[in-house]
Amino acid sequence: MSDVSLLFCALLGLLVLTHAHQHEKIGFYELKRGNMRLNLTNYGATVISVIVPDKHGNLADVVLGYDSINSYENDTCYFGALIGRVANRIGGAQFTLDGKTYKLPVNDHGNTLHGGTKGFSDVIWTVKSHREDNHITFTYDSFDNEQGFPGKLEVSVTYMLFGRNLLGVKMIAKPIDKATPVNLAQHTYWNLRGHNSGDILSHIVQIFGSNITPVDNNLIPTGKVQSVQNTPYDFLKPKKVGSQINELPGLYDINYVLDKNSQNHLSKVAMVRDPVSGRKMELWSNQLGVQYYTSGMLGDTKGKGGVIYHKHAGIALETQGYPDSVNHPNFPSQIVHPGETYKHYMVYRFTAS
Ligand SMILES: *[C@@H]1O[C@H](CO)[C@@H](O)[C@H](O)[C@H]1NC(C)=O
Ligand SMILES: *[C@@H]1O[C@H](CO)[C@@H](O)[C@H](O)[C@H]1NC(C)=O
Repeated sequence: MSDVSLLFCALLGLLVLTHAHQHEKIGFYELKRGNMRLNLTNYGATVISVIVPDKHGNLADVVLGYDSINSYENDTCYFGALIGRVANRIGGAQFTLDGKTYKLPVNDHGNTLHGGTKGFSDVIWTVKSHREDNHITFTYDSFDNEQGFPGKLEVSVTYMLFGRNLLGVKMIAKPIDKATPVNLAQHTYWNLRGHNSGDILSHIVQIFGSNITPVDNNLIPTGKVQSVQNTPYDFLKPKKVGSQINELPGLYDINYVLDKNSQNHLSKVAMVRDPVSGRKMELWSNQLGVQYYTSGMLGDTKGKGGVIYHKHAGIALETQGYPDSVNHPNFPSQIVHPGETYKHYMVYRFTAS
């Protein structure tokens, strides 16, 4: 059995959960295993910090975030958040399903971004289960017509530490009464040198996607699928984030079509390495796409410990379906029907050398 199958089995093991209890208010929750630590909040099912060792064993927090819940409430960068009901952009802030047109909140140049003006990243989730040395499960019951989306949807996300510095994320969603699009995403920004260490332009990135879904000026997919060959988007072999960034009209904020043919298994999505600290992060998922965003739109933002984050301070690798699939019949469908279950798995492995 391959490493990846083992990881997948470990995640499936999460289906059996105990110690259920309910919390109504906003709180902070820790996960610790070995020398890895996470801090999370049920506000937006958000990852606040991830602490892992470098090649000398020195610990650092490698994700961007804030010191207070007020800042998370005001946030427009989606630091660490769980995004839904539909992550990424929906062109024209509407879609048609079974002959009915659904109008959504406009929050990004005439389009809908990351689930609307108050998506899953801005609601208080219930803490369903928490065991500090193992996992935390957040749940959220989305109501009919919430942010314009059809039908009730039961959502859960589990963050789990296992093995040696492995972090699993399991997102599950079940429509109750109507078919609905579902496209959840985890929106953590990584800086493997440390969240307060400046830009990520010298980080090495590899993405296992030979194609992208190109976008128009407002970042809405044209519907085409285009090869990365001979373009700055080619990360099939590891290269520096900054090596060709100046050849781009804008910045890296694009969906890669992952080189895989099944959503039933985990496959490798990407690798990120910081040559200075030696920290490396590998990512596996069962999703068909990954949004690669190198925070080129990040304005100066006051983060944890009063540090000011600037442009290019972090890398987001958001596994998900293709953006705006609801308006592109040639893209794999994101419609989930009552009786069906949406399942999204991610596994991160942190090493250092
Ligand atoms: C988790 O983050 C919150 C908000 O920044 C902070 O108040 C709390 O002390 C942190 N908890 C731990 C254990 O780091
Ligand atoms: C949140 O935004 C409001 C309105 O822009 C502002 O007055 C407030 O200071 C902000 N809070 C934080 C913690 O940044």
